[in-house]
Formats: sequence, C-alpha cells, structure tokens
Amino acid sequence: MRSAKDFFRPLAVGAPAPVREVPFRPSRMIHFFDPGNEKMAAKVPSIAPQVDVLLGNLEDAVQADRKEAARNGLVQIAKATEFGDTQLWTRINSLDSPWALDDLLTLVTEIGDKLDVIMVPKVEGAEDIHYVDRLLAQLEAKAGITRPILVHAILETATGVANVEEIAGASPRMQGISLGPADLAASRRMKTTRVGGGHPGYLVREDPNPSDSDAPRATFQQDLWHYTIARMVDACAAHGILPYYGPFGDIRDTLACEDQFRNAFLLGCVGAWSLHPVQIAIAKKVFSPAPADVAWARKVIDAMGDGTGAVMIDGKMQDDATYKQCLVVSELADTLAA
Ligand code: GLV
Ligand code: MG
Repeated sequence: MRSAKDFFRPLAVGAPAPVREVPFRPSRMIHFFDPGNEKMAAKVPSIAPQVDVLLGNLEDAVQADRKEAARNGLVQIAKATEFGDTQLWTRINSLDSPWALDDLLTLVTEIGDKLDVIMVPKVEGAEDIHYVDRLLAQLEAKAGITRPILVHAILETATGVANVEEIAGASPRMQGISLGPADLAASRRMKTTRVGGGHPGYLVREDPNPSDSDAPRATFQQDLWHYTIARMVDACAAHGILPYYGPFGDIRDTLACEDQFRNAFLLGCVGAWSLHPVQIAIAKKVFSPAPADVAWARKVIDAMGDGTGAVMIDGKMQDDATYKQCLVVSELADTLAA
C-alpha cells in the first residue's frame, strides 16, 4: 500500500527540488506554563507526562519585572526534569524587546540539549527567522550541541500574515507556525477584546421572509479566523512544516474551545495551545482522528486497492482523491498510536 507521503512529494524524475519535511512528532497540545511562577513550576513533573509539548513561556503574560525570573526558572526546571517523550519548547520574548537576545544566549547555553523548539513571537518576515537561525547556529556550535534546535513562528501581525509564505520557507529549522489571534486582532485593528474564538457580533442574518416581513430572522455566527488559518495551512503544507491554532482565552467555555480547535483540525492544523489543564483533554480529543473516521478511512483504503479508479461505498463515490484523504487520516491515527 502506498503512503500519504507518496502523493505529496514530487516524482523522482530528473532532478526534482528536494522536499524537506519536519519529522512528525505528536504536538496536539502545546501546554503553556510560566516558569517563574513557583506554583506552576511545581506542577511540571505531573503535567509533563500528560502533554505532547510543554512550553516555558517567557513572553506576554509574564510581567516585565519577572522576565529574568521566568528565564532562570526554565533553566532550573529543564535541568531537574526528565521529559521522556514530551517535547520541551520555549516562547522567547519578541525580537524587538530588550530580552530576546538574553533569552537565546541563556537558554541555548544552559539547556540547549533539552530544548526541542524555540517559538518566536510577532514574526514579520523571513529576516526575523534568519536572525534567530544565525544566532542559534553560533550558540549551538559554542555549546557543542549537535541536534539543531527547531524554530516555530507565531503569526500575529498583519505584516506577518502578508509574508506567511516566506516565513514558512525561511529556514530548514522551521518546525511550524501558530496563529496568534490576540495580537493579530490588535495589529489588524479588529474591534474585539478577547483571545481567539468567535464573536457574537460577527454574523450573517437569514433573508427576510417575503410573506411576513416582521417574522424573526435567524443569525449565524461566523468564524473570524477562517481566512488566516487557511492561509497559514497552505503556506505550511507548501513548505513541509506544521500548522497550529494558538490560544483560546475563555477557559470556562470548553464547548467553544472544542469547536474552535475542531475547525482548525478539519482545516489541516495538527494542534493548538493549552493555557489551562482543562484544555489538555480537549486538544487531545480534537487533534486525534475520531475512531469512526479512522474506521471509515480504512474501509475506503481497503476497497480502493492500488488507490486508483472509483468505487461506491454506502452510496458515496470514492476515487484516487478520497483515497489520499483517507491515507492522511489513517496515517495520523497510526502515528499517534505508535
Ligand atoms: C498569542 O500570542 C496571541 O497573541 O494570540
Ligand atoms: Mg501574542
């Protein structure tokens, strides 16, 4: 049987451009914690085995006078903890802040052998990634680190969105991109005051009833983030890196969080951020294909044989294209089960 990858690489004819693909490691939830907060830091050993990615956050939500404490806290935690299969990421401060250089210097020198990915906020173009890439290369060489630390960009400025293609392809270190809806809303001068999710004012209303102009008319809330997620997913897919929905700030609204995560999953994202332990289970559920979908995908794959031609299953037409979709779902399930 063929694999989904066979379809997403150029044919080996002549001298095709090499397609780079980041090795897939489960990252359904990127769980944020403040390493300078003693209560949160104490929970790291019990939270780490529950999540795919643990991220020590140094940027927004950490007060300016706590930046050094957060950075030093992360160094201590990383040195004291065995993370097993859980990845360790950090979000450094933005490149226009007074802290980013010290973040990189300290973290790569002290715990570079334990850090899998560095998340860079407010990336505006390829030049931001090139800057981090060059610094990482120097710092890794100095510290004797042989496994390259990967880079993840947050898409959270209007300029960043305009340049998302070049950001995705800026360096072989690029691991993925997350949508940052809160900063992006501010950058675009949207009139929202929340972290991700929908808005009750962003809706369409059904047409008036011609025979009863006073009849109530239903409204349907629309997805504020559809355009940006779709754009980000395309850029990531074109460059072989992974797309993520970012944060959902209304911790109590687990239903809407699940809906937002699921929209992102269906559009191609592989994970989202969890800002509170309650969001860990939501992300795990949403970003793991549902057993019924996996069973259906396998049924189609079995029925399609070599993956060409057409068959009818339960009244639905299947062909080469649905076969490829089914491989994506089935292989994701296999990878997550491994
Ligand atoms: C995340 O950093 C955001 O701004 O949404
Ligand atoms: Mg942000």
